[in-house]
Amino acid sequence: MSVTMVIGAQWGDEAKGKVVDLLSQNADITARFNGGDNAGHTVINDYGTFKLRLTPNGFSNPKTTCIIGPGVVVNLSTLIVELQMIKDAGIDLRDRLWISPRCHVVMPYHPIVEAIYELAKGNASTGTTGRGMGPVYADKVSYNGIRLADFQDLQILREKLQVQLHVKNALFKAFNQELLDPQKVLEEKQEQYSQVQSMIREPFGLVQQALRDDAVILLEGAQGSLLDNTWGTYPYCTASTTLSGGVTAGLGIAPQHIKRVIGVTKAYTTRVGRGPMPTELKDSIGQVLQNEGKEFGTVTGRPRRCGWFDADLVSFTARINGFTEIALTKLDVLDTLPKIKIGIGYHPFGHKGILAHYWDGDAHWLEGYEPEYIEVDGWMQSTRGMTQFDELPLQAQAYVHRIEQLVETRVSIVSVGPERNATIMV
Ligand code: GDP
Ligand code: IMO
Ligand code: MG
Repeated sequence: MSVTMVIGAQWGDEAKGKVVDLLSQNADITARFNGGDNAGHTVINDYGTFKLRLTPNGFSNPKTTCIIGPGVVVNLSTLIVELQMIKDAGIDLRDRLWISPRCHVVMPYHPIVEAIYELAKGNASTGTTGRGMGPVYADKVSYNGIRLADFQDLQILREKLQVQLHVKNALFKAFNQELLDPQKVLEEKQEQYSQVQSMIREPFGLVQQALRDDAVILLEGAQGSLLDNTWGTYPYCTASTTLSGGVTAGLGIAPQHIKRVIGVTKAYTTRVGRGPMPTELKDSIGQVLQNEGKEFGTVTGRPRRCGWFDADLVSFTARINGFTEIALTKLDVLDTLPKIKIGIGYHPFGHKGILAHYWDGDAHWLEGYEPEYIEVDGWMQSTRGMTQFDELPLQAQAYVHRIEQLVETRVSIVSVGPERNATIMV
């Protein structure tokens, strides 16, 4: 049981960072395999509070090797700031971080291309984090990307950059954007590359040896399953594969090695950005969830939309990822509510009948459907910081069991506060 994955079961920000930090204490390797600096994973541990964008958790454990796998897209500016932040906290990561040279690089033109599209789409915009994710992955799959490996040969890098800016500057001109100077971009990125060059080395061999040694490997998913580029609420989704299956290409681990897949889900639902969210609450209860849960985006600071737990969605993500267990987070945020609802499926507005499921339709379809709910009793007392399941009020225990039953997956971790020790191992 050496390889464990931690995957977001909803629309991101489920507290994957906390769960990975918790499990990383005896990990030999922790790795990111998808997404980029659109991620913001909060960790509160003995060294302080960190909001990590690219570095995998496990960074605070001197025995853990951290890997940024080839499926991740790297913004060098973000990485440099993040490594400095970690260093300032007294943690030496240099010899423990491996970054794949296969990683594509977010170039200065990617966020500009993204902004042009978002503006052109108007009300149909995705509401991205503005980190250039769509364009950098689009360049990757259309053979126009620049990888870290390209920085090893200045001539290759210069030629690739010239082609890209030839095309991108034509677009910028058409949309009245400032043009980018190839030489300036080259110098800026080269200088940044030189700061992290010593950490760029392919981790494939290291990972394969770790598998042979039955080492403890922890894989940290970014974003959430409902933001997956294929199975999420397209086009209100992200650019990478966010599902457990993404690790095979994103890190180079064959599927049979993955023995444990932990789906992280909040005890309610949140979403940042646009797109359907059937159980969204636009009333005072939504406000309670937002205030109590401090629901503001880690990367952009945008308020997160809040709503009831949607069991149909998490049941879907449990199946598609093969969750072997669930980490149920932020249960304490529900502490003051007298009644709690859970969505269990959808029906068209005004038509009751057979319930439809998430996978029956697309994002547009989901906008036109409303959830069917069941209602359960709240517990109306603080669960904050509890460490034993039996300590939880009976209604809270019943709520956890109801979720297990609806999602057909065992809850193995309950989180009742942001701190490491505000955790119940069930
Ligand atoms: P991630 O992207 O999945 O790692 O999640 P984020 O870090 O973006 O957002 C989760 C937020 O919830 C962070 O601010 C955490 O500190 C906080 N948090 C994590 N677990 C709990 C919990 O059980 N209760 C409360 N109240 N906050 C939590
Ligand atoms: P973590 O890893 C929550 C959302 C954006 C937007 C959509 C597309 O912290 O859970 P993108 O910038 O990826 O092109 O934006 O995806 N999004 C996230 N929402 N948590 C995240 O990451 C997210 N990463 C992207 O808000 O709706
Ligand atoms: Mg986050």
